[in-house]
Parts: sequence; structure tokens; C-alpha cells
Amino acid sequence: MTINEIRTKYLEFFEKRGHTVIPSASLVPLNDPTTLFTGSGMQPLIPYLLGKEHPHGARLANSQKCFRAEDIEEVGDNRHTTFFEMLGNWSLGDYFKKEQLRWFFEFLTDEIGLNPRNLYVTAFIGDEKLGLPRDIESAALWKELFAHKGIEAEEVELGSQEDAARKGMRNGRIFYYDAAKNWWSRAGEPENMPPGEPGGPDSEVFYDFGATDSSQVAHDPKFGAECHPNCDCGRFLEIGNSVFMQYLKRHDGSFGHLPKQNVDFGGGLERIAAAAHDEPDVFLIDAFAEIIALIEHFSRKAYDDSRYTRSFRIVADHVRAAVFMLGDGVRPSNTERGYVARRLIRRAAQHAMKLSVGDKDKEDSMLVRAAIVTIEKYKEAYPELDGEHAYEEITGTIRKEEVRFAQTLEKGVKEFERIATHEATPRGFISAEQAFLLFTTYGFPFEMTKELAEERDISVDENGFKDLIKKHQDVSRAGIEQKFKGGLADTSEKTTRLHTAHHLLLAALRQVLGKHVKQRGSNITQERLRIDFSHGEKMTKEELAEVERIVNEKMEEGIPVVRTEMAKDEAEKLGAEREFGAKYPERVSVYSIGPLEKAFSIEFCGGPHVSNTAEIGKSGAFKIQKEEAVASGIRRIKAVLQ
Ligand code: ALA
Repeated sequence: MTINEIRTKYLEFFEKRGHTVIPSASLVPLNDPTTLFTGSGMQPLIPYLLGKEHPHGARLANSQKCFRAEDIEEVGDNRHTTFFEMLGNWSLGDYFKKEQLRWFFEFLTDEIGLNPRNLYVTAFIGDEKLGLPRDIESAALWKELFAHKGIEAEEVELGSQEDAARKGMRNGRIFYYDAAKNWWSRAGEPENMPPGEPGGPDSEVFYDFGATDSSQVAHDPKFGAECHPNCDCGRFLEIGNSVFMQYLKRHDGSFGHLPKQNVDFGGGLERIAAAAHDEPDVFLIDAFAEIIALIEHFSRKAYDDSRYTRSFRIVADHVRAAVFMLGDGVRPSNTERGYVARRLIRRAAQHAMKLSVGDKDKEDSMLVRAAIVTIEKYKEAYPELDGEHAYEEITGTIRKEEVRFAQTLEKGVKEFERIATHEATPRGFISAEQAFLLFTTYGFPFEMTKELAEERDISVDENGFKDLIKKHQDVSRAGIEQKFKGGLADTSEKTTRLHTAHHLLLAALRQVLGKHVKQRGSNITQERLRIDFSHGEKMTKEELAEVERIVNEKMEEGIPVVRTEMAKDEAEKLGAEREFGAKYPERVSVYSIGPLEKAFSIEFCGGPHVSNTAEIGKSGAFKIQKEEAVASGIRRIKAVLQ
């Protein structure tokens, strides 16, 4: 069964059950400042889950294009991809648990033909403190559904991930987990949800690859003593999640009910296809298989040669993701979405080189060929990829970016040659600092430094380099992660100054407008900062002037900016601002402007920041350029230092 067949089957199945099939929304979210890309099927439907009437009725289904930038580094194993299709069906105050669980089970077993013995399910264990009940209805429904297939399904209480790794399967089929696993909202767990955010308990279905002869995946104890459905060892794959969207976080932190009980279902199409083939490697399903076959043909390298598997997967994933992103109008650049598109194409190009199919001088490069295969595969389901114009735009953009990358590399190679000839050779050694300079200043990938050095019999201080990178990342932890969430574009001096100004601005907004002001998104480049925050009305001229005045005053006062590490609770007690939707570890980094106890601003933050607010002024005075609405109840400010 191909992914096109499974997608069609799914949509027809739900159409027969009264659903209207709606098109996928763009990967570029409309009016949602919380994420750079659409990452789940429900995101574009938020207003309807909150109670607004949908023009197509109360039963909807689709296949939504999704992109999760935070998974870029994970790509390379057998199941992570950055882009994926999420099959979705929604009840907007119509059917609920009973129909939802039955239909999905029926779809998996009767339509796709999965053996029910390979399926395991989960339900929410409840949270007394928050007044959220245990989901005994879902467990009872699952028991009945399995019984129909002649399977006696036992319930097992697992609780947290740690407890689960200790307890293991215990011959169960229905597993209760805590909110970390069986609660869904855009912001994650109940505690992380901001007021006004909808969420609810969920019930996931897992496919067991360890149960069958064809593809035995044994538990890997590296991931915990005992295996269980949410174990990360790869034996179980989550293939669908039914969220029972019925709660709304209140301003006092408690939970109220939404006007209607909704169902928000999402299932990864590629993963369902992998289960259908009883094949734990999603890269072997047809969505990627053709790209992989193409690379195998031209590179004369085998996908299952472990030296190359990761590169095959990165090229296949990144090209597919780039095609969809370009199809939705994103173009490579140095900021925001463009930066992600650039990174995808360059990383794919780099791994194509590793597979000796870099073809940097050819018009029909490997990446372009792989893009064409992708367009052909998807253009029927996603018409935005169809037509000569889209085709030219997508392949042309990929090609242009590849050429630019090649030019960057050429400069890097020259610098490498210079270092190798004049600096390294006497010692036969490239230092960590030299490799780091090549990487940061010339954008020259470390792997290339290593390869070129090997060719010349020069050694490279790899551990030293890794330490430097780690330090660099610690300093700018805002780096990778927040960059993708819409935080910092880089960690240059200018950006860092604007980052500290951003903290001053948030504190000033709260002082002038009130404590309801919360950060809902942010983005900082060398030129300007942008903040999205909760506030109901347009700001007046006076309010804007006052905010501007306060920020400039705090800059002039020359207040020390201090980073402190502390327990999460302690930071919360101090009233530190947290980022919308972010998950924090037990120990957190906090930046305060002024001494902790009476700080003007205090935020959960990974930095980097200037050490004193006076430094911000070196870029100029703080000036608000624009204040506007981005969504209902959310305002956006753009400001500069000039
Ligand atoms: N919104 C749910 C998810 O993304 C279905 O898992």
C-alpha cells in the first residue's frame, strides 16, 4: 500500500462517516504567532475548537502538511522526519470518544489490515491536583474493541516515563500514563498552557515491531530497564493520537470546560504506512524509497551500508521538506522560515556530497532530481506542487541555493588551504579554534574540515572542536532551539543587544499595560526585534511613548544583567517570565536585569545577553517602529536601536 493509497482510504473512510474533507492548510501558519510552521492538523482549526462555527460543519477530515523544525537534528534514525503528513479528523462538538476510538481502530484493522495483536493503546491517568479525571471511558472502550477481535486487553497503570521504565508491560494492552504522555495542547502539559488555551486528555495507539517475525525489534535497555509503549527504543511506534479537546485553561490556572466537547485526531501517514508494511524504517516506504533508489543508482552506494544510511535519510527527508516549503512560498534567506529552508537545502547538499552525488556543477543535480521525484509523487494530492510554474520555482530555487552553498564552500576550502599550508603544517595539526573559525566564519561544515585534513594527513582536534561548539551552544542556547521557535536569528553582538532590549521591553509593557501581558512569540535579528504579546487593544500613542521612555531610561541606568541557574520552582516563585509553550527542565537558566530580589525584569532564558544594559545603547536609542494586531488578543511590536 502506497502513502497515496492510504491517504485516499483514510479520507474516504471518514467521508463515508459524514465528514467533509477540507484541504491542507499552508505550512506557513496564518495568524498564529506561536510557531514558525504548521506542526499539527489542529493548528489551523483552533478558532473552531474554541467554539466558532465551521462553514463545512461539525465533522471534518484532511491530510495536513506538517513541519517540525525541532526535529532537524533527529533526522537520521529510522523514524524521525522533519516534514510529515498528519491524517486528521475532527468532531466540533459532535461525536466523542466512543465513535472516535471505534472508527480509528476499524480503520487500522479492517481497512489497513493491521493485526490487532500488534496494537497497544494508552489513556490519561488523571491529575487530582488539577481536578482532571482519569480517562476510564477510553480504557473501557478499548477493552470492548479488543474483545471484539478476541483479545483480552488488560489495563496497566504506568504513570510517569520513569515509573513505566521500571514497571514494563506486565502483559497489559491498555496503559495509563500521566499528563507528560497523555495530555495534548499546543503548549504541551497542563501546567505549560497559558490562559485561554484549549487542551485535553488523549489516547494514543502504538504499533509493536517487536511482536512479529519479519522485523523483530528487540528492546534496547539503553532506554530503560523495561520496555513499554512510550519507550524510545524503537520497538513501539506511535501511529495515532485521539485528543479529547474539552478543557480550557482559566486565568487562575484552573481548568474549565470548552463550550463543546471536541475530538482532535492526528496520525502520521508515513508511520501508518510503516506499520502497514510491518517495516520499522519509515524511509523504506514509498514516500522515500524512490529518492533512495535514485541516490543508490547514481552513487553506487547501498542504503543499508551503515556508513551511508544516515546521509541517505537526511537527503531524502530534507529535499522532501524543502519541496513542500518552497511550494508554500518560503524562500531561502537568513531569517525565520527562510533560514530553515536554507538549512534544509544546504544540509541535504552536504550529505549528497558525502554520498559522492554532490554534482555541484550540474543543472540536474541530485537534489533537483530528488525534488522532481517528490513533486511527481505528491502533486495530485497537493495541487500547489502541480504546474510548470511551481515546478520551475521549486527546482530553480533549490538549484540556486545549492550553487550559493558551493560558493560558500569554495571560500571555506581556500581558507582551509591557507590554514593547512601556513599554519597547521609545521605542526601537522589543525586546532579546535581553527576548525571553529572555519565553521562559524566561513560556514564550512566540520565534516569537510575533517575530510580535507585526512586527505593531507593532517590531524584535527575534534574533541576540542566539539567542546567549543558545546560552549558556543551553551552560551547561545537560544541558538538552535529558539532560532527555530522564532527567537534569535544569530548570536552576533547586535542581535544580543536587541535580545536584552527585548527583555526590557517586555517588562516595560507589563508595567505600562498590566500584568496580563505575556510574551507569545519573538524574533530577533541584527536589524530589529519583534515581540508578540497578549493584549486586547491597540496601544495608544501615550502608552507607546511611555514604554519607549522606560526602556531608554533602563539602558541609561546601566543595570547589570545577571544569569543565575536555579530550580524551576524557585524561578517560578520569583515570578520569572516563561516562554509560551516552552517546556523547561528541573534546573533552569534565568536572566535578571538588576538584583534577583528586586529585578526590573526576570525571565527564563538561555541567553546570550549583554552584561550591562548600558551596552545596548552602543547600537543607538530604543525606538518602537510599529504596533499592530497579529491575531485576536495578540499584538506585535517591532522595534530597533538607532
Ligand atoms: N493534535 C494532536 C497531535 O498533534 C492530534 O498529536
